[in-house]
Amino acid sequence: MPIPESAGDSGTARSTDRLLTIDTGNLFRDNVGAEGVAHEELVQFAPELHRVHAELVTKSAGGLDSEYACLHLATTMRDALPQIREAAAGMKEYRDILLIGIGGSNLGTKAIRHALKPEDDAPRASADASGRRLHFIENIDSYHLERLFRRLSPGTTALLCISKSGGTIETVVQYLILRDWLTRSLGAEEARRRQWVITDPGHGWLRERVRAEGLASLPVPPQVGGRYSVLSAVGLLPLAALDVDVDALLQGAADSAARCLSPDPQENPALQLAGLYYLLEQRRNKRISIMMPYVSRLRLFADWYCQLWAESLGKWQGPRPAETAAGSLPVRAMGAVDQHSQLQMYLESRHDKMFTFINLDRWDHDFAIPLDAPAQRGFPYLEDRSLVDVIHAEFLATRQVITDAGHPNVTLGMPVLDAHALGQLIDLYQRTTIYTGLLYGINPLDQPSVEKGKKLTIQYLQRSAS
Ligand code: PA5
Repeated sequence: MPIPESAGDSGTARSTDRLLTIDTGNLFRDNVGAEGVAHEELVQFAPELHRVHAELVTKSAGGLDSEYACLHLATTMRDALPQIREAAAGMKEYRDILLIGIGGSNLGTKAIRHALKPEDDAPRASADASGRRLHFIENIDSYHLERLFRRLSPGTTALLCISKSGGTIETVVQYLILRDWLTRSLGAEEARRRQWVITDPGHGWLRERVRAEGLASLPVPPQVGGRYSVLSAVGLLPLAALDVDVDALLQGAADSAARCLSPDPQENPALQLAGLYYLLEQRRNKRISIMMPYVSRLRLFADWYCQLWAESLGKWQGPRPAETAAGSLPVRAMGAVDQHSQLQMYLESRHDKMFTFINLDRWDHDFAIPLDAPAQRGFPYLEDRSLVDVIHAEFLATRQVITDAGHPNVTLGMPVLDAHALGQLIDLYQRTTIYTGLLYGINPLDQPSVEKGKKLTIQYLQRSAS
């Protein structure tokens, strides 16, 4: 059942041939049998969906001051683009940009960079046409830092430190080491000029450093949390420094938002997806939610989705020890690679999985398959076929076997691989995640257990120091 392309009027210019297609047909019983949702079930669930839609509308009223401020970034960040571009121009003076941040502070940027400006040589950092390279400093890894110090020169390097809270230990310690490296080589003033900070506008250790040292900085709106922040300066600044079309990214998100205005799930793709994912988890025991793009460049988008889904929805419903956990475990798979790895288990293990395929409609590049006589004899069906034909056949075949095995699955079709389509995917999944959290009756924006871990790490450091 494809979801219609237009719902409501957003006031933004959009062209329907650039919108994602969302085919939820294989989530229903008609196509996958008993493991799917019955159409009447979704109809009966409408009051719940209306409830969560109304809650989302209420909690996002008030723009960037509202609880769901993240849903306004697509429109409000347009005004900040000149400032972001100015900061990006400053950064572009340096060949190597070290982005220090973790979790929501870098996963979105990594996903979009990988999709649109991918690294050309896996373990090395990517270099764009001008030779500029963006390096991600996230996990604490002395091997990685040592290697960077050997390869980089302070003279061509700038730092971009991103942390909403301004105090995440992995980010802070690596920032301190890298600042010190620059300062020892270039002197305090020159090192200061090569630092940019993105953090909360009012609070936190990083904000204090910005004030005390006059560092260049951009704010993350106070109500916007890490994994919902990619459309703020958190993602826009490093992506603008890589010449990603950030206008198109925001426009894509705005175009997606415009499809999600209705309380009717047939007219609101995020609401329909949330309802179906929720019903499948709660009533059909689909405890695992697998995202499987058939485009290698979306591998890190699936990572971004995994963080968003897991950290937002993996929560207890009500106070412990109520044994009713919320959420399905997000898992990333890659087509066609995981056909040769995970697929066997997907097909023959428990019926506890649902699938989200992402398929690309139009590839920018394709290759004819040159068949010499032996190849023609071995693979006659490849006559007049191209590489894109092959990956497309693999996608159709895998989806078919998964459907035939009775596993619910949805297909998102990307018209092209560009910033506009990625903006749509980001908005669609942020909204779907929030709606799903509201269906579970949990707060999709917090991460109480992650916070506990952060505090305990500090206690362990205190103990070992004493
Ligand atoms: O989504 C979240 O809130 C987290 O994943 C954070 O992004 C992560 O813990 C890093 O936090 P911060 O941006 O405060 O350094």
